[in-house]
Amino acid sequence: MSKPVAFVTGAGGEMGHLLLPALKSRGYDVVALDLVPLPPEIGSSCKAAIEASILDAPALEEVFRRHHPQILLHLAAVLSTKAEKDPDLAHDVNTNGTVALFRLAREEALAAGRNVVVMFPSSIAVYGLPDARAKEAAGAVREEDWVRPAGMYGINKVYGEMLGSYLTARARKAGEPGLDFRAIRFPGLVSAETLPSGGTSDYAPEMIHAAAQGRPYSCFVRPDTRLPFMTMPDAVESFLSLASAPAESLTRRVYNIGAFSPSAAEIREAALEHFPGAEIGFDPVPARQAIVDSWPADVDDRSARADWGHAPRHGLREAVRDYLVPALRRRYAAGAAPAR
Ligand code: SER
Repeated sequence: MSKPVAFVTGAGGEMGHLLLPALKSRGYDVVALDLVPLPPEIGSSCKAAIEASILDAPALEEVFRRHHPQILLHLAAVLSTKAEKDPDLAHDVNTNGTVALFRLAREEALAAGRNVVVMFPSSIAVYGLPDARAKEAAGAVREEDWVRPAGMYGINKVYGEMLGSYLTARARKAGEPGLDFRAIRFPGLVSAETLPSGGTSDYAPEMIHAAAQGRPYSCFVRPDTRLPFMTMPDAVESFLSLASAPAESLTRRVYNIGAFSPSAAEIREAALEHFPGAEIGFDPVPARQAIVDSWPADVDDRSARADWGHAPRHGLREAVRDYLVPALRRRYAAGAAPAR
């Protein structure tokens, strides 16, 4: 019997590094799309790898025509800091690219007579707290509250969430196959394999990678800045748990997930525990500080825990001690170039 096909966009990015091998080991044929060639360590997990932009309509059509994916994992995006610098590019990639893909997924579902599961990584950037007082008072935000993003990336993600949910409901109502849309609002993610680029939660991974390499680091937000974070292995595990959850167990299409919510100063302390000589200072960049000040300090993820068993393994201590430090020591002791 042929294997189910998983189509992953933006496959060479941060999340793809762990997601592609995980999909392969769960029995999928992985078809990957990215702007640049995939690094060999993840390219080997793919049945096919296509080098193209998410805005390249003929390339996307060809993927659906040749491979008929059962599940689409749409990771390609311009992240939040870059989106503020180039909002037109962000709109094109994050919104127009998403609309085109969802249309193809819908056509595939109709032609094949079965739903296409569409996994969408949304973000805490969909929330928009007006000021520090509101952020503190809000505590762990629920999915319904404060969805009024202050930045382009968050606006793009809200639209993706709403479009996917709408198309799913529309197909159900018509009694037709269509999208089975499922989204997670990820917190900031920290990976030992790669560094993100163009995000605003990047200070956490950047700080720890710099400490492991013995390089000084100047953090672009204030020490008291607090955001929810999660390790990449926990994020990938949750994404795949939601993808395989029985439809009847889902009470919503869009879920918060959290793991730990440290201040930037607490991340620094955790790094110093293992790399006592690390030089980590703070030099806030107002534009980036303003973005994280509008994001919540914590998220309410009770629905994800109840509906499909979200249960992250790593708190801050475990993340640093059991995952990041051993992997980064191996990586940088082996003389590896800084993660990209
Ligand atoms: N971590 C992302 C960013 O900082 C948000 O999803 O842009």
